[in-house]
Amino acid sequence: MVWRVPLADLDYGPEENQAVLDVLNSRWLTMGAVTQEFESQFAAILGVKHALAVSNATVALHLACLALGIGPGDEVIVPSLSFVATSNAVLYTGAQVRFADILGSEELTISPQEIERSITPRTRAVIVMHYGGYPCRMAEIQEIASRHGLAVIEDAAHSPGASLDGRFLGTWGEVGCFSFFSNKNLSTGEGGMLVTNRDEIAEKVRLLRSHGMTSLTWDRYQGHAYSYDVVELGYNYRIDEIRSALGLVQLRKLNSNNTRRRKISEDYWKALQSSSLSLPFKDWSEKPGVSSSYHIFPVLLPEEVDRKTFIDSLRDAGVQTSIHYPPIHLFSYYRNRYPNIQLPHTEYVASHEVTLPLYPTMEASAFETVVQAIPHALSKQIA
Ligand SMILES: Cc1ncc(COP(=O)(O)O)c(C=O)c1O
Repeated sequence: MVWRVPLADLDYGPEENQAVLDVLNSRWLTMGAVTQEFESQFAAILGVKHALAVSNATVALHLACLALGIGPGDEVIVPSLSFVATSNAVLYTGAQVRFADILGSEELTISPQEIERSITPRTRAVIVMHYGGYPCRMAEIQEIASRHGLAVIEDAAHSPGASLDGRFLGTWGEVGCFSFFSNKNLSTGEGGMLVTNRDEIAEKVRLLRSHGMTSLTWDRYQGHAYSYDVVELGYNYRIDEIRSALGLVQLRKLNSNNTRRRKISEDYWKALQSSSLSLPFKDWSEKPGVSSSYHIFPVLLPEEVDRKTFIDSLRDAGVQTSIHYPPIHLFSYYRNRYPNIQLPHTEYVASHEVTLPLYPTMEASAFETVVQAIPHALSKQIA
């Protein structure tokens, strides 16, 4: 299928090509100086003490849980309206999840009240997910977390460069986890970053990301060490120099690309305001203190429109769409494990949501193609 308008597209150019060639010519491919530079620039931009690059955000979330000592017998509160990695990361540790509902159809992030309702004596942490790069209600969530002695982990997969009240998303909680998957705002194909201000978490993550070894191949190449000990049961969750080099170039484009995404989101809100679609986070570019990364553009269909018919109609016009997300608690694996869970707002949004194309290189003609295809798609009502 060749789409006239894809859901997402890379902003890659000769700079990315050159960055990869430079790594190849250096003849050092595994985690080394380029990764260290990527980490230090990422940390400096976010104003956070430690940034540790890893293979992807899923392992960042896993490491976050492990570094906080989460394991069998513990519970972690998570949203169900997220990618399955958010809750899988908890289950990898042997802990259990408790799903909390979102605020509603206008604000698709986890509800602070629902977090509080889900707390049990076993609860150790809450993972929040900044849907589309729109911030969760962090002040309220942190107040609840500190009152109950819970850690806060931010799934910031959608949110590089986004902030709330002058503080970058990912730096509010104990740990923030970013994804550099190919459709993300900062893209390296696969990749992730874990950020924290806490030295002991950073130290633990540094060990666990590379087999619990006390030195890296890079350290030995530098002549800093000739052997190593293994002090933890660790993993190979490393990134490599090619991806870090791509990350450094993409980091330079992040601000301008997020600004471009903001403009397209504003154009969508304007163009669709008189349609029958509901527009979550509408006009949040005007909301005081909020600076989203505008990762995706979600819309909610009215009751009388069948989602499959709507998506098929856009497909026939060459427009790719997606769904964010099929709720985690309704996947077979999770339903078997956690039966009878009801999350009315999550279920409503998940069954009416469609994600429209949004990417920084989107041209005016592509935007028009989407906007013009929508009235026709909406007119195809259930027979
Ligand atoms: C909300 C969310 N969390 C976690 C992940 C996992 O990221 P990764 O693919 O880098 O492991 C994703 C990626 O799609 C995501 O969207």
